[in-house]
Amino acid sequence: MNQTTNSLFRLFPLIMGLLVSAILLVGVIAGLLYFDYAGIEPPKMQLAGVPATLDSPKSKALMDPVGMWQAPDWTSVDSESNADEIKYGRELIANTSEYLGPQGKVRKISNGLNCQNCHLQAGTVPLGNNYSAAKSTYPKVRGRSGNSEDIQLRINGCFQRSLNGEVLADDSKEMIAMVAYMNWLGKEVAKGEKPKGAGIYEVPLLDRAADPIRGKTIYERQCVTCHMIDGQGVMKTDGTGYTYPPLWGEHSYNQGAGLFRMSRFAGYVKANMPFGATYENPILSDEEAWDVAAYVNSLDRPKRDFPNDWPDISKKPIDHPFGPYSDEFSEQQHKFGPFQAIKEAASK
Ligand code: HEC
Ligand code: HEC
Repeated sequence: MNQTTNSLFRLFPLIMGLLVSAILLVGVIAGLLYFDYAGIEPPKMQLAGVPATLDSPKSKALMDPVGMWQAPDWTSVDSESNADEIKYGRELIANTSEYLGPQGKVRKISNGLNCQNCHLQAGTVPLGNNYSAAKSTYPKVRGRSGNSEDIQLRINGCFQRSLNGEVLADDSKEMIAMVAYMNWLGKEVAKGEKPKGAGIYEVPLLDRAADPIRGKTIYERQCVTCHMIDGQGVMKTDGTGYTYPPLWGEHSYNQGAGLFRMSRFAGYVKANMPFGATYENPILSDEEAWDVAAYVNSLDRPKRDFPNDWPDISKKPIDHPFGPYSDEFSEQQHKFGPFQAIKEAASK
């Protein structure tokens, strides 16, 4: 046996060891990749006495995408006889402030928000507060007004509350255009039907009150980079609107707005915020969504009285934050929860 063969023999166990380790490593990586690809969560190691998080932030899609409403193809709009109206309507929804904001080039009747800030991508996103049911479900009787509301009245509701502004006349060019756009978006939806993924996600109720103090921590971790520590967002340099809209303060939605209700805020945020989250890839846990809603909605914002709202107080939603109520629960509980007991009492 010469010198080289001899040393090779002595290295043999080492080489075999390395080989086996390499094979094991490749196996583990392939396994992890498979789990990831198949969307399966690899089993978590659990320390004795430490419960696995029930409310994992990396939870799955909020709804099965199969059968989800989709907006009609935008490139087909030119085949409509009122294509110009529809296009102007979409433009107004996407860039409301430029036309109708504090420096609006058509009129100055709103606070600088765009409809699209809350009705994402001009109202086309599943569970992004889309307009899929606008054509099919209006006019309808709503508890807030106690009357039948047509789509114009509903749009003006958002102007007066979410945009803390003034109404548009039904026969104005702008109102006609927005209605035309919504009718086009919902053209394939049968009368009376609410398509899958319409509106806002219903976040499961917590068995405790939503907590503004926990919410503040979540805000500072997940929201400040865009909406800023003072909640005032970031204005575009030309002043025509926001890059990141304000969440509270004088330029935000007022206390009569839908988002001032905890369930609307939590549901909108759960499926859409931080920006980039979707119903298929939500980022916040349910608890985080409720708590951040409690934080944002406990800070100052414009107040406005709508004395004709809720002529029948028993029609108020469980999370309507202002009394009087037809039940025994406090205003505090109607605002922050826990809501389960209120809901049960209401169903009796
Ligand atoms: C600050 C957020 C916000 C802004 C900005 C906003 N909205 Fe809304 N809008 C809401 C919320 C919340 C609802 C209620 C959704 C629900 O309860 O499911 C709503 C509901 C609606 C509805 C009824 C949809 C349905 O299917 O019942 C219409 C129509 C509407 N908004 C139009 C507009 C228009 C037009 C603008 C711009 C002028 C606008 N909104 C701006 C938050 C906003
Ligand atoms: C990466 C930037 C970013 C982060 C982080 C982010 N947002 Fe937003 N947010 C936006 C943008 C942009 C819009 C407007 C969307 C549009 O116009 O398309 C928006 C809109 C909103 C709106 C509706 C408009 C308004 O002004 O009322 C709410 C409510 C909101 N965000 C809440 C949150 C909350 C709560 C968090 C943290 C959990 C959060 N956002 C994190 C970028 C962000």
